[in-house]
Amino acid sequence: KKYQIAVVNGDGIGHEIVPMAEQVLQAVAAKHDFSVESTTFPFGAGYYLEHGDFMAPDGLEILKGFDAILFGAVGLPAVDDTLPFKLFTNKVRTAFKQYVNYRPVKLLDGVKSPLGTKTQKDIDFVVVRENNEGEFVQNGRQMYPDEPFGFATDTSLFTRVGVERIAHYSFKLARKRRKKVTNVTKSNTMINTLAYWDRVIGEVAEQYPDVEYHKMYIDAATANFVLHPEYFDVVLTTNMLGDILSDLGGAIMGSLGFGPSGNLNPENTFPSMFEPIHGSAPDIAGRGVANPIGQIWSVAIMLDHLGEEQAATAIVKAINRTTAAGILTKDVGGSYSTQDIARAIIENL
Ligand code: NAI
Ligand code: MG
Repeated sequence: KKYQIAVVNGDGIGHEIVPMAEQVLQAVAAKHDFSVESTTFPFGAGYYLEHGDFMAPDGLEILKGFDAILFGAVGLPAVDDTLPFKLFTNKVRTAFKQYVNYRPVKLLDGVKSPLGTKTQKDIDFVVVRENNEGEFVQNGRQMYPDEPFGFATDTSLFTRVGVERIAHYSFKLARKRRKKVTNVTKSNTMINTLAYWDRVIGEVAEQYPDVEYHKMYIDAATANFVLHPEYFDVVLTTNMLGDILSDLGGAIMGSLGFGPSGNLNPENTFPSMFEPIHGSAPDIAGRGVANPIGQIWSVAIMLDHLGEEQAATAIVKAINRTTAAGILTKDVGGSYSTQDIARAIIENL
């Protein structure tokens, strides 16, 4: 089997970690029964500085033809930071109906969690972030910003279809795991949108009597991520709450640089997109010190989505062998370079 993969490094450390992930992808393909042809697109904030947009005018049309998109991150200090999400990340996520943002939080072998006594048994859950609507629909305005009577609005949007599909995805995922869904919400204060979110999820929950279902407020959930991570299995949450919680998830794994993700279109009506949870990290870009593991792990999620489960498992095992051997980047107390990590992972495949 041959896969066509679109590769978008984006900006900053994307240029360092995505090529490493591609090397791992080619190495794993050679050991399993498939091949990968990748085509790189220079889209991102750098592209914007030259062309006035984050992608070519027919960018979505082009990307649509691929089996999957491997993506780094977009954003540069020189570019208005409201643009990367609007003109690239969210544009792809919504156009391609990637309504699931799948973000595993799992402590790797040999890595010490900043939570101290918590072990691999305790830190093993998935954040399922609703990825197409909610707080991030950017439906609002700023009025008279310079006047004493200035005001601004951002109206969230939750549709029955949107909430039902992310709920069904989460309960089905829970059936393959420890059969527990925690809906992280804030319906005690967001009494319209999140109360509706809870109601629709509650209805879907009744169709999965074999799965434990709980509701937890976001403020309590942040504390529990730190104090009782072992409580969680599938964390089902909204677009903005999931954005915030997944960085906390990265932190309890030891570094943001470990966090992988899949922007999934479960029906495969369009390609899905795979990227680390972090951004373009301009503060460390160009020094060869970025942790490439979140990016490489995202390749595993991509292969799993494409049906290459054995290859996906092989990558995750190779990552764990590498971290277990203490081959770590600076963000987790190591002294190895981005390339050293990728090389070790390939050797460990
Ligand atoms: P960031 O995630 O890029 O960085 C936060 C901190 O984590 C920084 O200190 C960085 O050095 C560190 N870090 C992140 N990834 C790392 C890695 N792989 N290895 C080692 N350290 C790592 O978030 P920040 O600084 O808020 O945003 C930087 C830019 O990225 C902004 O332009 C932002 O808009 C963009 N961004 C893009 C995203 C995307 O394309 N999906 C997601 C989040 C932010
Ligand atoms: Mg984020």
